[in-house]
Amino acid sequence: MSIDVQKIREDFPILDQMVHDNPLVYLDNGATTQKPLAVIEALENYYRKDNSNVHRGAHVLSDRATIAFEEARKSVQTFLNSAHSEEIIWTRGTTESINIVAQSFGQAFIKKGDEIMVSAMEHHANIVPWQMLCERTGAKLSVIPVSDAGELDMTAFAAMLNPRVKMVSVVHVSNALGTVNPVAQIIKQAHAVGAKVLIDGAQAVAHFTVDVQALDADFYVFSGHKVFGPTGIGCLYGKKELLDSMPPVQGGGEMIERVSFAGSSYQGLPFKFEAGTPNICGAIGLGAALKYLMALDRSALSAYEDDLLSYAHERAAQCDGMRVIGTAKDKAGVLSFLIDGTHPADIGMLLDQQGIAVRTGHHCAMPIMDQLAIPGTARASFSIYNTRQDVDALFDGIEKVKMFLC
Ligand code: ALA
Repeated sequence: MSIDVQKIREDFPILDQMVHDNPLVYLDNGATTQKPLAVIEALENYYRKDNSNVHRGAHVLSDRATIAFEEARKSVQTFLNSAHSEEIIWTRGTTESINIVAQSFGQAFIKKGDEIMVSAMEHHANIVPWQMLCERTGAKLSVIPVSDAGELDMTAFAAMLNPRVKMVSVVHVSNALGTVNPVAQIIKQAHAVGAKVLIDGAQAVAHFTVDVQALDADFYVFSGHKVFGPTGIGCLYGKKELLDSMPPVQGGGEMIERVSFAGSSYQGLPFKFEAGTPNICGAIGLGAALKYLMALDRSALSAYEDDLLSYAHERAAQCDGMRVIGTAKDKAGVLSFLIDGTHPADIGMLLDQQGIAVRTGHHCAMPIMDQLAIPGTARASFSIYNTRQDVDALFDGIEKVKMFLC
């Protein structure tokens, strides 16, 4: 199977529009991806025909909604190649998934004197929940150093590992720099000292296949909206025996087995972690997004995206005054940059005037920005529907920004 990018673009109706009298060039996929017709239709179909609550009703609509909701969970299972569908917990997204693990795993297993490790390139969502856990328990947060090119210092990581480390939580692909981290090696080394590992896959799963069993990840988390699904839905994958040994975080309907004033008992997985009416439509939409993606040739798509990113780097090397932030050997999806004499916010605004959508700022990764002594970057982030013409439009746009600002 090969890929036809023009055909893929036709699946994303939003791309076909003018912005400020220019054809839209959407390069903000790290913030959120666009949605294919398959997802838009699944959402519409659900609300037109099947809307009902799940696991509750004694009627046809509820049966249909429940079947579609649980089929979507199976699509995530296939997508991540997890061993059991009950290892997939629906959440609001990556942030909530990490918070659930920090609270629940933290309550069960973290005590004063333990260590939790993150890296210097993490998104705030993979820093703050662990800081809060450390504040609650007296555990220590240690930080794996990152070079100025944006690569993890694996020698330092190996030296920092010790039996007090109970959790290593690192990003698979950095949203700010694009670095692809060697997560298989990290997991292996962390396991050797008895630590568990959480991988933040928010920026990874749209770019290449992930196999949680091959990686031997203890937890793997991602957001639906960064992989062509709706906002407000995401997943927490955890190994069954681990999730089984962790307490629920929220109490309410759906997560209970029996409630009395003498005490309550809880459901098993996955419902133990899914209190209240879930985002049914979001889950169904995400299932449709993953099916859409899995029907494409994913290795051809990854190669296509790698080629696009290399082309963007080639153009960047020829662009006077451009400084690329994040020059790791292994990268996916992201070109972060600065232009001498300009502020990233101005670059973003002037590109928008030309119909080119990028993100600017610290990208919720202030610590790495502080290390690099920069206020933020302008970030072009690519997806399966972007083309070399989009990259050319970006660099033509940047020339105009330079003429205006420099
Ligand atoms: N974390 C998302 C980004 O990188 C929103 O843009």
